[in-house]
Amino acid sequence: MVIVNSIEALFKETEKFHGSVGFVPTMGALHEGHLSLIRKARKENDFVVVSIFVNPTQFLEGEDLDAYPRKEEADSKICELAGVDIVFMPNAEMMYEHDELSITAPAIRGFILEGTKRPGHFDGMLQVVMKLLNLIAYNKPTEFRAYFGKKDAQQLALIEQMVRNYFINVQIVPCDIVRDADGLALSSRNVYLSKEEREKALSLSRSLKKATEMVMKKELNVERIKEAMREVLFEVDVEYVALVNRHFEAIEEVEIGNTIILVAASVGKTRLIDNLWI
Ligand code: PAJ
Repeated sequence: MVIVNSIEALFKETEKFHGSVGFVPTMGALHEGHLSLIRKARKENDFVVVSIFVNPTQFLEGEDLDAYPRKEEADSKICELAGVDIVFMPNAEMMYEHDELSITAPAIRGFILEGTKRPGHFDGMLQVVMKLLNLIAYNKPTEFRAYFGKKDAQQLALIEQMVRNYFINVQIVPCDIVRDADGLALSSRNVYLSKEEREKALSLSRSLKKATEMVMKKELNVERIKEAMREVLFEVDVEYVALVNRHFEAIEEVEIGNTIILVAASVGKTRLIDNLWI
């Protein structure tokens, strides 16, 4: 495995690749969720690249950019053990110039849910993902796949749309959410939670379980499901509970096989998201 810190070094290394490339973009502080993406990429490709970059343009004023956990050494070890070929760790100076052109998330899908609560977040996220896809595919791999978690469902849908709208030559591979044994979806931000907060945070996955039970009992009405979920979420500060179709369009009734149930809430100072695809 090689760790590269410059774009020149990245191009020199990817030039040696002859075959398919699997790419896993991350912001580091790697956990089992990231690792499941890396393992899938390892299984499905000749070469695997992981990027670790805490992208400043997707953090809003007052968010946790400076506090975001950084664990470069541990992350490199994890990647090495997982059989990664290249870890790409750029810095903001080499990724951005002054007065860049920008990408704007779509007016509807980009500005609901996470987009309402974090205006501008998706613009910055799409911008860096576009750059990273172009960088990793620069030397034209025979096949190019990029792996994203369903944990960030709206992010995944917007990346799929960007690839579609800009005709980018990559296959986006959605990956299942990895959870702790107690149901909490793994997140780099879980380290911020105290013991009591963690207990409360479990209500997010519990509310999704409640929704599944209702659907299994043939309750498909979105308003009633949302109401029941909110009851489970009484100990956390709920930002939104939503049911949408796979294109992130509003729905009134659950359609099995085409619905995503989403929840965002804060526990103390920590903002958490979770979702379920049914
Ligand atoms: P980050 O939060 O580090 O996540 C990197 C990838 O890991 C994302 O595709 C995310 O959905 C996935 N992931 C995180 N937790 C997961 C879990 N519990 N189960 C399955 N997958 C999980 O998302 C980002 O970074 C950034 O926005 C990025 C795409 C790298 C652009 O900066």
